[in-house]
Amino acid sequence: MRRVVCREFGPVEKLVVEEEPDPEPGPGEVLVSVRTAGVSFVDGLLVRGGYQVKPELPFTPGMAVAGDVAAVGKGVTAPAVGDPVLGLCGRAGYASAVLLPAASAVPLPSGLSYEAAAACVEGYSTMLFAFTRRAPLNPGDVVLVLGAGGGVGLAAVDIAHNRGARVIAAASTADKREAALAAGAEAVIDYTNEDVKLRARELGGGGVDMVVDPVGGDHAEPALRALRPFGRYLVLGFASGTIPRLPANHTLLMNRSIIGVDWGDWGRRDPAAGAALTRELADLLAAGGVRPPEPSTYPLERAAEALTAIIERRATGKLALTP
Ligand SMILES: NC(=O)c1ccc[n+]([C@@H]2O[C@H](COP(=O)([O-])OP(=O)(O)OC[C@H]3O[C@@H](n4cnc5c(N)ncnc54)[C@H](OP(=O)(O)O)[C@@H]3O)[C@@H](O)[C@H]2O)c1
Repeated sequence: MRRVVCREFGPVEKLVVEEEPDPEPGPGEVLVSVRTAGVSFVDGLLVRGGYQVKPELPFTPGMAVAGDVAAVGKGVTAPAVGDPVLGLCGRAGYASAVLLPAASAVPLPSGLSYEAAAACVEGYSTMLFAFTRRAPLNPGDVVLVLGAGGGVGLAAVDIAHNRGARVIAAASTADKREAALAAGAEAVIDYTNEDVKLRARELGGGGVDMVVDPVGGDHAEPALRALRPFGRYLVLGFASGTIPRLPANHTLLMNRSIIGVDWGDWGRRDPAAGAALTRELADLLAAGGVRPPEPSTYPLERAAEALTAIIERRATGKLALTP
C-alpha cells in the first residue's frame, strides 16, 4: 500500500508518500481498499502542529474514506469482501488501504459516489450533530451560515434546507456563494463588502434564529447581533485564525445563547453515540434528501497541493484524494 506520512510538524510540503505491505485485519477489523479520502481543514492544522490535539509522529492524516472491503478479520460478519463502504478512520485515510473496526465501515449510501461520500462525512456529521444534539433546528427557522462555501458551511446549508429552514449564506467569493445557492440557500451575503448584521436582519425579515460559524474573526460579532430574541449562535471553528471575543451583553439582550459544537470530541468520548450518528448520516444520505456536492479530486501524491488550496482559502466546497 501507499500512504502519505507526516514525520515532523511543519509545512504541508514536508509530507512524503511511502510504500509498505498491506496490513492484515485483526479480529473485528476490515481492510478497505481506498477509492477516495476526504481532505479537510483540520488535516492541515494537524500536519502543521496547530490543532488542539497533537498526534504522535509519524502519522497519516485523513479521517474519512470510501472504498471497497478487501479483507475481513476474525469474527466479522458484515461488511463482506467486495462491499463498498464509507468509513471514519480517525487518522490514516490518506492511503491506498486502511484498517477499520468493522462497526466503523457503513455501507456506501446508494446514489452517492465514493468521492462525494468520503468528502462529505466530516462536515455533514458535524452539522447533523449540531442540528440534532446541540441546537435542534425548527422548520421555518432562519439560519445564517458563515463560510458557507466551505466544507462545514455547505453541509450546514444543505442539512438546514433539508430540515425546512430558510438559509442565508455568507461567503467571500462569487464561486462560494453560488455553491451555497446550489446547496439550498435562499439568499447570499458577500461579507467582504456587505454589513453582515444589517443584511442578515434585512434578508431574515428582522433577524435570524441561528448563526452557524465555522470561521470566527471579524464577522462573528455582527452575526451575533443579527440574532432575534432567543436566537442561537453556534461556534464551530476558527478558520480565519482569529478566535472572536463576543460581548456577553449581547447574549443577555434578547435572551440569545452561544453554543459550542465539537463533534469529534463527542464521538471520541462516546464511540457508541458517534457510531449511531454515522449510521443516521448514512440513512440521511441514502434517503437522498441532502445532496453533498462532488469534490475536486487530487492524486495521493498531490496531498500537499490540496491542503495548500484549503489553507490559502482557495477551495470551494470539498477536496478529496484518489489513491
Ligand atoms: N466543531 C467541529 O466539530 C468541527 C468539525 C469540523 C471542522 N471544524 C472546524 O470548522 C472550521 C471550518 O472547517 P471547513 O472544513 O469548513 O473548512 P473549509 O472547507 O476550508 O472552509 C472554511 C471557510 O472559512 C473561510 N475562511 C475565512 N478566513 C479564512 C482563512 N484565513 N483561511 C481559510 N478559510 C478561511 C473561507 O470562506 P470565505 O472565503 O467565504 O470566508 C472557507 O471557505 C475549521 O476551523 C475546522 O477546524 C469544526
